[in-house]
Amino acid sequence: MWAGCGIPSVDDMQITSTELGLAARVHQLTKTYGSGAGEVRALDGVTVGIRRGEFTAIMGPSGSGKSTLMHIMAGLDAPSTGRAWIGDTEITGLSDLELTILRRRRVGFVFQAFNLVPTLDALGNILLPFDLDGRRPSALEKARIDGLIESLGLGARLRHRPHELSGGQQQRVAIARALATAPDLVFADEPTGNLDSRSGREVLALLRTASAEHGQSIAMVTHDPVAASHADRVLFLGDGRIVADKPRQSAEEISAYMLANELDARVRA
Ligand SMILES: Nc1ncnc2c1ncn2[C@@H]1O[C@H](COP(=O)(O)OP(=O)(O)OP(=O)(O)O)[C@@H](O)[C@H]1O
Ligand SMILES: [Mg+2]
Repeated sequence: MWAGCGIPSVDDMQITSTELGLAARVHQLTKTYGSGAGEVRALDGVTVGIRRGEFTAIMGPSGSGKSTLMHIMAGLDAPSTGRAWIGDTEITGLSDLELTILRRRRVGFVFQAFNLVPTLDALGNILLPFDLDGRRPSALEKARIDGLIESLGLGARLRHRPHELSGGQQQRVAIARALATAPDLVFADEPTGNLDSRSGREVLALLRTASAEHGQSIAMVTHDPVAASHADRVLFLGDGRIVADKPRQSAEEISAYMLANELDARVRA
């Protein structure tokens, strides 16, 4: 009834993710796999936002729902119930094509299992996001990619295909690919899991720079308290729920919290 009267409608007044300073958010997410006796509830009512320009670590025992949450936040998987947004765009309900385009332009993802294309060499994999978007990197983008290749120590491996690379090298190619287009939002699922401590530090420094200097929003799953201590914020998942949301912590504080709350998979096992 107010349409055209110059009085904002409820839709106009809705608070958007941008106003909240959120690069991505989810509301009341649940995800169940299987049915009947075999049903697994991977996520159980998760409401959380990833703040713009922040580096967020996501921790929790094996099977607590970390990868599932990241896949849904990135639009790679659909929730059973609940809603998800990237910036102001609600992604639950977008068509596959719309989602693919949005993801390609705005989201970088480092998969837990790397997901490199076996027939492409390392450079081909790193440049894949540009190929999929039907364009070539600009001079500026080329310079950034060269910088990534150098910091990740991949210069001598660019012509190797994934099966000719070690696990840690494949992981670094996956990281370079996720950062190549400088996406607003980067999800990294255990990006340091297969790396020695020096390469791990390089990767953490890259992610830190991406958020602190380039304003990119980073969400990183890790089991490593030292890796999580590089983040501005640490979210803890347990049994498909967010059980704690803490500001920057030292590695010692994170370890102590995990031990006290039995959130360390090694302690539980
Ligand atoms: N495709 C699937 N089909 C059935 N169950 C699944 C599937 N994917 C995940 N699950 C289950 O959902 C739960 C959460 O899995 P998820 O991969 O999100 O855990 P995670 O926290 O990432 O664990 P990890 O630290 O081992 O990577 C687990 O119990 C898992 O077995
Ligand atoms: Mg996982």
